[in-house]
Amino acid sequence: MEIRMVDLVSQYQDIKQEIDQALERVITDSRFINGPDVQGFSNSLAQYLEVGHVIPCANGTDALQLALMALELPQGSEVLTPSFNYVAAAEMLPIVGLVPRFFDSRPDSLNLDEELIEGSITEKTKAIIAVHLFGQGCDMDRIMEIAKKHNLIVIEDNAQSIGGTFTFRNGTTKKLGSIGHIGTTSFFPSKNLGCYGDGGAVMTNDEGLAKKIRMFGNHGQVKKYEYELIGINSRLDTMQAAILNIKLQRLDVYIEARRKAAGYYDLHLSDIEHIETPFRNSFSRHVFHQYNMKVKNGRRDELQDFLKGKGIPSMIYYPRPLHMSTAYDQYPRGPLPVAESLMNEVLALPMHTHLTEEMQEYICTSIQEFFSKA
Ligand SMILES: Cc1ncc(COP(=O)(O)O)c(C=O)c1O
Repeated sequence: MEIRMVDLVSQYQDIKQEIDQALERVITDSRFINGPDVQGFSNSLAQYLEVGHVIPCANGTDALQLALMALELPQGSEVLTPSFNYVAAAEMLPIVGLVPRFFDSRPDSLNLDEELIEGSITEKTKAIIAVHLFGQGCDMDRIMEIAKKHNLIVIEDNAQSIGGTFTFRNGTTKKLGSIGHIGTTSFFPSKNLGCYGDGGAVMTNDEGLAKKIRMFGNHGQVKKYEYELIGINSRLDTMQAAILNIKLQRLDVYIEARRKAAGYYDLHLSDIEHIETPFRNSFSRHVFHQYNMKVKNGRRDELQDFLKGKGIPSMIYYPRPLHMSTAYDQYPRGPLPVAESLMNEVLALPMHTHLTEEMQEYICTSIQEFFSKA
């Protein structure tokens, strides 16, 4: 039995015939850039997310760049973003002349701490990047309320939580990524909706922004060789769109498989004294991009080594908050005690659409064995 952190091979075997046929069709047609599958996928994803416009692009980092370019915030404006996060949001801000201001995360959901937003706002703050980490949404009711009060733009980075939902206090439910002014996502292969290379998209209900994002991603062109803006080249290629079209039809089934696997882990790990299984918000349906638990007795690295010895992979998301990296340590920030303690506690277990109970039983028994020896 081989246990993988992410098993894209088994997933491909299940849909091989459809994928192979689609790729053969694209190659035979040879419209590799902006072929019909790209528009088709963009329409299907817009329908799935119930959002007005989906603009596909080359990856999730570009999606953030395009969103920020289209917003045209004054140079030097501050944008609030969590330090306990993947690098993409923090990286794109200085690239487009903006300043990241880091704030802390919640010890329970590991998402940004909404209650620290207002205290982080300065006269330079113009936007917030709300990152829905590991498969679960931030409190968008609260974030949108604060944003309205302080006139901030909200960008949702939904690279890790596509298909996840948020239920507002008034009872309405929306898909994550469709709630702020702009949403972004990634189709990196291991993501819940992943392609077979790089891919990403920007989502918005604002037609004017959608038009600008489209232009910025296509060399700033209104039409061929007519440059209205200074843009970049960031496109989703036709083959990736064809693959995504097939996988989007199965996204909800994939999410259910992840949720089932998470349920199994919860059931078999939550009684272990030193383990804190992932917290589930009442307002967001968790789509378990990662099963990121906490090891509370300071033995996380020992556990990781023990599991490795038994052929069980695991990952640390994230080993260091961004403000502790050389490239980002000069940017403004509030105190970050939670981010600084999470880095020593988090451990992500194998999570994908093809985990079997046999694999999970072995993983859970091995973890129990580690703690019983303590
Ligand atoms: C939260 C988050 N944002 C953005 C990205 C960037 O996506 P990509 O790798 O497609 O550029 C990632 C990718 O891992 C991510 O996890």
